[in-house]
Amino acid sequence: MSETETQGPRHVAVIMDGNGRWAQSRGRPRLFGHHAGAKRVREIVNVCPKLGVKYLTIFAFSTENWKRTQTEVSGLMKLFRRYIQREAQDLLREGVRVRFIGDRVRLDERLVRMMDDLELLTSDNDAVHLTIALNYGGRDEVARATKRLAYDVEQGRLSYKDVTDETLAKYLDTSVLPDPDLVVRTSGEARISNFLLWQSAYAEYEFIDTLWPDFTEAEFAQVVGRYGARDRRFGAVKV
Ligand code: FPP
Repeated sequence: MSETETQGPRHVAVIMDGNGRWAQSRGRPRLFGHHAGAKRVREIVNVCPKLGVKYLTIFAFSTENWKRTQTEVSGLMKLFRRYIQREAQDLLREGVRVRFIGDRVRLDERLVRMMDDLELLTSDNDAVHLTIALNYGGRDEVARATKRLAYDVEQGRLSYKDVTDETLAKYLDTSVLPDPDLVVRTSGEARISNFLLWQSAYAEYEFIDTLWPDFTEAEFAQVVGRYGARDRRFGAVKV
């Protein structure tokens, strides 16, 4: 690539924050905001090919989100099932390959079955790779990966001497994905909240004031465009 040429982010990860505040400011229950947020997911996924974003990873439910009220948690789970049911055929047709990351053990069986089915249904697609983080936490992911790695050592399939950062990365939920180039968080909070901790070591961050249900594809395009103008060195000195 020449010095003047710019390149957009290939992998964008998004912390979709602000649904609750968006709803509350309208005097509506928090779930109303999550439903509005789900509509934005559809819009943002659809615009990815035009922007050259091949991988989109979205934070839908964190390992900490179980602490919310039972009404909100079960409403969100229902929303995820509904999203999969309603969007599956469109995602298939649009060439979107869907994957889920996170610990499935605590999720209800019906939802897990739907997640598995959607992954299989879209497994030949390659236009956009949409990864949905559901019951996901970065530390939890590293702990689960380490447990599997330790098990392989115990079973004699791997020597502790061969453990490098690349080895560990192969045990992460994201083993088949490239690292994110850009992490975006909406709603004005400048926190990572346990999202893709390992994978975002060299990512650029954008903290946007807009609440997620108001985050349009035009604003997404602007954020992606700004990235193109940045100069990433991965710790090296530019020559
Ligand atoms: C954070 O906003 C948002 C979530 C915990 C849920 C994200 C879920 C969606 C956008 C729903 C659709 C997703 C899919 C994959 C269909 P918040 O509730 O923390 O907002 P607040 O900070 O204003 O309270």
